[in-house]
This record gives sequence, structure tokens and C-alpha cells, in this order.
Amino acid sequence: MQFDTDYLKDVLTQIRAEVGKVIIGQSHVIDQALTAIFTNHHALVEGVPGVAKTLLVRTLARVLGCDFARIQFTPDLMPADITGTNVFNLQRGEFVLVKGPIFTTFLLADEINRSPAKTQSALLQAMQERAVTIDRTTYPLSPNFTVFATQNPVEYEGTYPLPEAQKDRFMLKIIMECPSREEELDLARRMLGTDSPEETLASGAVKQVITDGLLTHLRACLREVTVQEQIISYVVDIVRKTRQHNGILVGGGPRATQALLLASRASAILNMRSFVIPDDVKEMARPVLEHRLVLRPEYEIEGLTIAEVIAQILQEVPVPR
Ligand SMILES: Nc1ncnc2c1ncn2[C@@H]1O[C@H](COP(=O)(O)OP(=O)(O)OP(=O)(O)O)[C@@H](O)[C@H]1O
Ligand SMILES: [Mg+2]
Repeated sequence: MQFDTDYLKDVLTQIRAEVGKVIIGQSHVIDQALTAIFTNHHALVEGVPGVAKTLLVRTLARVLGCDFARIQFTPDLMPADITGTNVFNLQRGEFVLVKGPIFTTFLLADEINRSPAKTQSALLQAMQERAVTIDRTTYPLSPNFTVFATQNPVEYEGTYPLPEAQKDRFMLKIIMECPSREEELDLARRMLGTDSPEETLASGAVKQVITDGLLTHLRACLREVTVQEQIISYVVDIVRKTRQHNGILVGGGPRATQALLLASRASAILNMRSFVIPDDVKEMARPVLEHRLVLRPEYEIEGLTIAEVIAQILQEVPVPR
């Protein structure tokens, strides 16, 4: 496959334009979501209620021609509620599979930490294998199956925080901030008219830019991106440094290295470049690393944040030239 810059530019411009018809601002967030999708990984999404987390994933599904489903995780949600079950069909006199909501392409898993470990691991296994096993039969999921998971704030009573090993399976954590004043004004005005973001999406004004199948083509473009040896070392050194930092109890594992490298490569594509530069790595460091690192409690008490640790590490690791 040739690295076809014109084709990519065209597709990316169209994707951004169509998503932008619904989502106001949030350009970094959109790029991070595209990073997870283009690299065939999964993402955590964080943000206060009403910052358009659901709307973003629904809009991306429309623009990229992918199916969408949402699962609200609750304390009583069972693994079979997400995967499906065999139900006895009286007329046919046999068991038939009733597929669960996981049989989709883009899955918004809302508040995954409200379900107990058993249900969480059913989701995580499906994410890893892109397949689910129901009564000993394994069914494949869409090759583009992508999970966007939100978490209820951990302080909330009755939550089951995701273990570190499970958070590691998400390539990145997308943080959605509240809109700027200008953006919020724009939103407020649109809410009064007939072109509110929700209505725009519902009206069919948002065009599908690519098909589910073309995602494979875009992924092939990613493999054409050049990653020089110095960039690989840069990524490895940054992740290794997270294991040595005084304030860090749990540093990034090898999966973090892999994720940072792949995300940086996607960042090059999103910036219409055929080679990775240190800025791609810097841009992706926080989204890739933040959810994987655990602060030492004594540093946490002192008010150090993981974001600050990552910023320090980026200052310290020599930038390749
Ligand atoms: N940046 C934005 N662009 C467009 N619409 C927005 C934006 N921010 C907020 N909205 C509006 O906020 C509404 C709520 O969005 P949505 O339901 O997707 O939020 P959410 O983050 O999923 O909330 P919750 O955490 O409660 O599920 C949307 O219908 C939309 O009108
Ligand atoms: Mg929502």
C-alpha cells in the first residue's frame, strides 16, 4: 500500500468537517478518539456529565460508517447481559443465540466501574480478543470493535475501580474539558434554534465519510509512516523514566511503550505527515501514560499530580534531533 498523502488529507479533512457539524471545539479530543480507532485500540473517556462524551462517539460512528451501541454498567449487570445468551426457542425446539449489545463496532461502555469484576472482565476479554465465548462457542466481533469506556468518579460509593492491569488495556485516556466561553455561547445559541448538536446528528445532515471496511485501508497507511530509530529510543526512554521517578509507585509497562509508539504514529498521520517527530510523542505522552501511572501516596498528599510527573519527564528526557 502506498502512502497516499492526498487521499489521507482528503479523508481526514472530511471526517473533521462532518464531526465538527455536531461537536463544537474539542479538536484534540476528536484526534485522540481517531487515534484509538485508527490504531485499532480502545480508549477511556473522562469528563463531567454533559460534555458530549456520548454524542462524540455516536457522531464518530455515523461519520465512519460504524455501528454504535451503548451499555450502562450497573452493579447488577451480568456478563451475559453484555455478551448474549442462548435462549430456548419453543417453536424451533432448539437453543438460539440472542446476541448482546457487545456485537457492535463502536461501543460506549458507560461507567464500567459500577459493575463487579466479573462483568468488567467479560468486556476486557472481548476488547483483547475481539471475540466472545457464549456457552463454549466463540463468536467473532467486528474487526473494528472499539470500546470507549467512561468511569464514574472513584470516590463514588459502590464502585469497583478498574485494576491497573485492566486500565493498561486502554490505549489512551481522553479527557474532555468543558467548552470555552465562545464555544458554550455557540452551543447555547444553537440550542435555541433548530440546529442543536443533537438535532444536527438526528437530521441526517452529517455525512458518512468512509465505510467500516475503509478503516482497514487507513490502518495500512499508518504502517507506511516512518519511525526513526531515535524516535523509538525517545519513546522507550520516556516510558522507562516513569518507572524510575521518585513520585511514582507503578510506572508504565511494555504495553505503555507500544501504545505510545503507535499513538505517535497516528499523530503523524493526523498531522498529515509521513514521519513521526518528537512533538507527536510529546502530544501523546499524557493521554497514553496518565491512566497507567500510580502516584506514591505521600506524593499525592503533597499535591503532586501524574500530569505534572509526565511534564517533568518530558523536560528531562533528551529530545532527539
Ligand atoms: N462540545 C460540544 N459540542 C456539541 N454539543 C455539546 C458539546 N458539549 C456539550 N454539548 C451538548 O451537551 C449535550 C449532552 O451531551 P452527552 O449526552 O453526549 O454528554 P455526556 O458527556 O455523555 O454526559 P453524561 O456523562 O451525563 O452521559 C449534548 O446533547 C449537546 O447538546
Ligand atoms: Mg453520556
